[in-house]
Amino acid sequence: MDAIRWEGNTLYLLDQTKLPVTEAWISYTDYRPVADAIRTMVVRGAPAIGVTAAYAYCLAALAGEDLGEARAVLASSRPTAVNLFWALERMANRAEDCGGDPAVLVEEAKAIHAEDVAMCKAMGAYGAAVVPEHARILTHCNAGALATGGYGTALGVIRAAHELGKVEMVYADETRPLLQGARLTAYELVHDHIPATLIADNMAASLMAKGKIDLVVVGCDRMAANGDFANKIGTYSVAVNAHHHGVPFYVALPCSTIDLTLPDGSGIPIEERDKDEVRTLYGVQTAPAQVEVYNPAFDVTPHSLVTGIITEKGVIYPPFKENLSKLFG
Ligand code: MRU
Repeated sequence: MDAIRWEGNTLYLLDQTKLPVTEAWISYTDYRPVADAIRTMVVRGAPAIGVTAAYAYCLAALAGEDLGEARAVLASSRPTAVNLFWALERMANRAEDCGGDPAVLVEEAKAIHAEDVAMCKAMGAYGAAVVPEHARILTHCNAGALATGGYGTALGVIRAAHELGKVEMVYADETRPLLQGARLTAYELVHDHIPATLIADNMAASLMAKGKIDLVVVGCDRMAANGDFANKIGTYSVAVNAHHHGVPFYVALPCSTIDLTLPDGSGIPIEERDKDEVRTLYGVQTAPAQVEVYNPAFDVTPHSLVTGIITEKGVIYPPFKENLSKLFG
């Protein structure tokens, strides 16, 4: 399964706002609508946003446009996932080396895409090793093939564990307000014939209290140098619940999601989205139109609630600050 394709100097994105009901691809030859596609979540998930931005940068180069401006427009699309800024910086450095040659830049974007898939597969292999036999696993939001170049981070771990016959059940939080768990994770699990049960977000603690969750694995949008990390809103509650019930809690991410410039999670910019995402469900009003709404797209989970960090270089355990810095050493 994939959600990002590059064919004949055209970028194609699977419109994730329409899933799981409709599988529609949108084509792009101009970088500006790609910035809108990231903003409106036609494409979403930290690594997928990075790969998409790299290809969009190529569209600007192919059109002979100002690459500095393209970088700024793309960088303004969403603030939290660091992969966006990481990929744009890598593309800008390459552009400097090659004088903005579009053919070279396309190769660089393709390399970012292919490396992301390879990192997901490596994370899957390392992560599957920490999954016990007959595991009942809980995940939040969508950190799957749709959220990456392919295969997935947290869902990549689940896919790899399933291939080893270790997965008894995956519980997917539906993930209000935009339902990435219900619409996307459930879609991926059903597609791959992985045993799946969808739950509303407020049901996870009850499952843990009943001893029905052996392990939690989630994705990440940005991790600070000490292991604090931002992920989809609600991840923090899952981590608190897991800690209370003694359930191991893992976060899976490529090194491109680690931001060593931030000492801890307090500096991670958290996107606030449109209030109508909470007042409505699929365009249907579910709350008074005038009610005030709080709608942060992400929250920060402190590293003290994390059992282990699964990366493409291996699984890291506390002390996270020291062990994360060794990854880049
Ligand atoms: O708002 P979204 O759908 O882009 O949020 C996605 C998440 O929070 C994912 O868990 C995260 O990006 C990791 S994706 C491998």
